[in-house]
Amino acid sequence: MLILGIETSCDETACAIVRDGREVLSNIVASQIKTHAEFGGVIPEIAAREHLDAINVCIKEAYREAGVSANDIDAFASTVGPGLVGCLLVGLNSAKTLSIVHNKPYIGVNHLQAHISANFLETELEPPFMGLLVSGGHTQIIYVEDYDKQKIVAQTIDDAVGEVYDKVARLMGLPYPGGIMLDKMAQEGSKNAFKLPRARVGEDEFSFSGLKTAVLRLVQSFNGKELPKHDIAASFQECVSETLIQKLLIQADKYNCKKIVLAGGVAANSELRRKIAELNNKGYITQAPKMKFCTDNAAMIASCAYFNPIKTDNPLELEVFSRG
Ligand code: KG4
Ligand code: ZN
Repeated sequence: MLILGIETSCDETACAIVRDGREVLSNIVASQIKTHAEFGGVIPEIAAREHLDAINVCIKEAYREAGVSANDIDAFASTVGPGLVGCLLVGLNSAKTLSIVHNKPYIGVNHLQAHISANFLETELEPPFMGLLVSGGHTQIIYVEDYDKQKIVAQTIDDAVGEVYDKVARLMGLPYPGGIMLDKMAQEGSKNAFKLPRARVGEDEFSFSGLKTAVLRLVQSFNGKELPKHDIAASFQECVSETLIQKLLIQADKYNCKKIVLAGGVAANSELRRKIAELNNKGYITQAPKMKFCTDNAAMIASCAYFNPIKTDNPLELEVFSRG
């Protein structure tokens, strides 16, 4: 089954064609990062307009790269939510229009479940597994019992990890989006340079707002003098990755689940990937998505449309939603 997926929930316009949820025939991503970097964050109205400008080119490019035409596609899918409403509407209406014009089904997809599905792309991974979903808007541990049977077993009570990365990067004077930059700096710093606080919350909760404030205080304590940016980044990264892995293991052990999987934009983080890979020596089977499938893309949308579509009698009546 060939599915064309479209993703426009935030600042990436993406279109991809995937066979049977795993084989990626094309994966086109047009990033708006340069536009939003000027403002230090995503401006929803500008993002929606840029999606409109880019969407047709992305779709055409996806057909060209895959070497197929619209007639070969069995279903058209898009992200329905969560995300920025004006942005989501562009992808949803494009996919619904394609479905009507070519008389093939439309499939709606939840963006968070799609991040989990990124792990099925170009792999043979099968449920059950414990997933750690870390993105710009969400931090959740999800027990994936089956492709379409997922349960959130832990989540953040304040900021999402990606959001904290971006905020900490900003207060250290790094450009948007800060996550990647902070990760790069951390690799050259000492993770033991500064002791940062680990939040004391329940085992099924995360909290990162205290850590954010602690980094702010640390930065302020230098009183305008040159910051040891690499050391701050490394200490911050250690604190975040240690907390995430620790809580992930608590849930994995609770559910007696030896397979654990990363997902979401922050799954691209070098330290998180290193720590999770290390667990292979401790009796776990671990996986992180390929780097190109960590941050927002449409291949994960097409995969999720195949494995875990939003269930409804009339998909064409699905409406976008902002919060998940
Ligand atoms: O999943 P994603 O592309 O978009 C959302 O659905 O939110 O995640 C984007 C987030 C941003 O906050 C970005 O800073 C973060 O992922 N990110 C990283 C890295 N690469 C992207 N954070 C830490 N280390 C990275 N290497
Ligand atoms: Zn995302």
